[in-house]
Amino acid sequence: MRRLENKVAIVTGAARGNGEGTARVMAKEGADVVLTDVLDLVHETAKNITDEGDKAVSFKMDITNASEVNSVVQKVLAQFGKIDILVNNAGVCQLVPFVDMSEEILDKTLDINVKGVFIVTKAVLPSMLKQKYGRIINFSSVTGPLVADVGECAYAATKAAVWGFTRSLALEVAKEGITVNAICPGMIATEMVKNNASLTNPEDPESVLRDLAKGIPMGRLGNIYEIGELVAFLASDAAKYITGTPVLIDGGSTIPESPGSFTTI
Ligand SMILES: NC(=O)c1ccc[n+]([C@@H]2O[C@H](COP(=O)([O-])OP(=O)(O)OC[C@H]3O[C@@H](n4cnc5c(N)ncnc54)[C@H](O)[C@@H]3O)[C@@H](O)[C@H]2O)c1
Repeated sequence: MRRLENKVAIVTGAARGNGEGTARVMAKEGADVVLTDVLDLVHETAKNITDEGDKAVSFKMDITNASEVNSVVQKVLAQFGKIDILVNNAGVCQLVPFVDMSEEILDKTLDINVKGVFIVTKAVLPSMLKQKYGRIINFSSVTGPLVADVGECAYAATKAAVWGFTRSLALEVAKEGITVNAICPGMIATEMVKNNASLTNPEDPESVLRDLAKGIPMGRLGNIYEIGELVAFLASDAAKYITGTPVLIDGGSTIPESPGSFTTI
């Protein structure tokens, strides 16, 4: 039997990137996957999954809009009768030096990366409490809780917030059959990273990606399916005693204490 057979999973920001990788792996594991995103592309991504013989449906859903989120969640519950897995993946990262960071940029980053996670979780949690079963996986990052690059004051703050949110909620629902964990990716090859590489060096974004890879002990960026595999594990019964835990997936990027120093090999 596949790991997520008979499970219903909702993934935010699933049109592309880590959300798409997660939706694809969970669908391959047998779940009914509900892909949601602000982009129309979400319908195409879901169709690609069903074309491969796996189960997926899609909805346009802005996680910052509580009434839209509640309406989609009610439709999903009407169609499938339950939601077993919630993946809070949708997020944004706009690189801006702190001195130039407007309140608008700060508000947008907080609204999507933090308030959006609250809104979607609030909409889904009552049905999980009722069935006394649930798996919630939140996308934090190594950025914020552990490391940071310049231009990431807002982003880093939001990803540290997701880590705190995860631990507190995990405690509140620990006796209800619901686990709440966070994943903390390093550099994953998605539009988010590629767009920031283009902003950093519009003439040669590939060179930025190559330089990023050099700083990672495994010598490469991660891919969206590697992210999906970790989420699927945390969503599976094999992970039933894991809760409130931030899990790193970074190719070793946070290991070096002094990159480039004390090199003898
Ligand atoms: N790529 C990385 O290196 C990396 C590292 C650590 C954490 N993350 C996290 O992974 C998650 C996914 O990022 P990604 O790299 O795949 O980025 P991405 O930009 O490729 O995908 C993000 C998706 O979220 C959607 N989205 C944005 N705002 C939304 C909203 N208000 N409502 C619904 N959907 C919305 C976008 O349309 C997009 O499809 C984010 O939470 C990000 O912080 C990424």
